[in-house]
Amino acid sequence: MRSLVILISGGGSNMAAIVQTAERERWAERLNARVAAVISNKADASGLTMAREAGIATSVVDHKAFADQPQPREAFDAALMSEIDRHRPALVVLAGFMRILTPGFVQHYAGRLVNIHPSLLPAFPGLQTHERAIAAGCKVAGATVHHVTAELDHGPILAQAVVPVLPDDTAQTLASRVLSQEHRIYPQAIAAWLHARA
Ligand code: GRF
Repeated sequence: MRSLVILISGGGSNMAAIVQTAERERWAERLNARVAAVISNKADASGLTMAREAGIATSVVDHKAFADQPQPREAFDAALMSEIDRHRPALVVLAGFMRILTPGFVQHYAGRLVNIHPSLLPAFPGLQTHERAIAAGCKVAGATVHHVTAELDHGPILAQAVVPVLPDDTAQTLASRVLSQEHRIYPQAIAAWLHARA
């Protein structure tokens, strides 16, 4: 059975959508894959509770615990990698994981590390994508599932969804319209990735 490991930092609604789709679409039988673990860099990430309730192994690797190390980012990523690798993942899924990863981490999971970003990449990498899309006068916005490469929010695109930007949109209303599309395309893109490598 192939393992998926999902990394989160917060609410974990994308993680929940992936877990629910895996159940509904019987990924275990059809794709020989299951969500083996959910790992957070924050102990209070509410998505952890949801994952536990779904019977999935959870763990926390707190980035703050590495702050006094000479190379905190490298030390955190090394600890995170060893936690992830206990599950021998076929695919590592970043789902609202709010940490910039070191090149060593990205290299270690090359070709089996994916992310979702709430914009139509290559437009608006980084944070506050919805504010920036509205400020620029964009008429459409969306979300992108992509392979992770060393450059933040770049890498080959696996899936995108487009939504309209409405005249009275705020960052919040646009974010929620985009998020509902994220919940659709992320599980779909993962299933397609698994299917192509079955
Ligand atoms: C999503 O919009 C994701 O694209 C972004 O952060 C948000 C995470 O939401 N990187 P959730 O934790 O999956 O609910």
